[in-house]
Amino acid sequence: MSMKNHFIGRDFLTLMDYKPEEIHYILEVAKDLKYKHKMKKAHNFLQRHTIAMVFEKPSTRTRFSFQVAIAHLGMQSFFATPETMQLSRGEPVKDTARILDRYCDALVIRTYGQNIVEEYAHYMEKPVINALTDLTHPCQGLADMLTIREHKGEISGNKLAYVGDPWNVCHTLMICCSLLGMDCYVALPKGWKPAKVVMDFAEDNAKIRKTKMVITESLETAVKDADVVYANTFHSMGHKNIEERKKAFASYQINDETIAKAKSDAIFMHCLPCYRGEEITDSVIEGLQSVVFDQGENRMHTEKAVLSLVLS
Ligand code: CP
Ligand code: NVA
Repeated sequence: MSMKNHFIGRDFLTLMDYKPEEIHYILEVAKDLKYKHKMKKAHNFLQRHTIAMVFEKPSTRTRFSFQVAIAHLGMQSFFATPETMQLSRGEPVKDTARILDRYCDALVIRTYGQNIVEEYAHYMEKPVINALTDLTHPCQGLADMLTIREHKGEISGNKLAYVGDPWNVCHTLMICCSLLGMDCYVALPKGWKPAKVVMDFAEDNAKIRKTKMVITESLETAVKDADVVYANTFHSMGHKNIEERKKAFASYQINDETIAKAKSDAIFMHCLPCYRGEEITDSVIEGLQSVVFDQGENRMHTEKAVLSLVLS
């Protein structure tokens, strides 16, 4: 069976469900679709398909990258927030899921619990794509891996330092590093840690690939000689204890001094949106090592790859 057939009809809920060779294959398809886009070659081979998009949290990149990708592939998207749906009046997910399944060819959903995307997937035959939950952000992970590959030539063999809250993006990077052969250092203040389910997965997979999976309180240990420095917000969508988080993470800012401890050819990444002056300084985000807008662009190419593979 060709690799392509592995994907048809599959959900995309977390990269923990995908093998390294499957992730590499998605990145190859994304590279090809990016080339087609740059060369202005038509790739609208999924005409007459319709995609439901339900977003329970704000979004700029994910919403627009998906909607533009869907249009480029010849499909149509239908976007709604739960407040405009009967979900807001108590209609259960299991009923919503079965109705959307009858109309659309896939669901792209951004919500809170991973259990919610799993419930949609359980009640839908059509593919469900996770556009961010509290636990994971697999679409971001794919764009990040494509960006690292483009800028560093290879994914494996790099050291990635993550600084920010132990939340969806942190988890996704831990998963990606452990599957694709990167050393992963996560700098966190005392008492803060990633979700156990991700920690266990990442530790097991790092062991298999003989790479490092380190949680450290020392920002210096994390960033020292890193090839990739990845910052993220100290408070994510849905967090209420913002002041407590800002205080706890205050000394974990990526600025010119911190980035100087990484390798001289290190790249700087951030999933965006960022808070200049909190986790990151303007000088780093606008600096020569920053690849944040390439990352943002790659969201569209990698999402196009996922859609074309699960729907082909
Ligand atoms: N990085 C990312 O997912 O951005 P949005 O929240 O704007 O979609
Ligand atoms: N950690 C962030 C990611 C935003 C794309 C959040 O969930 O708010």
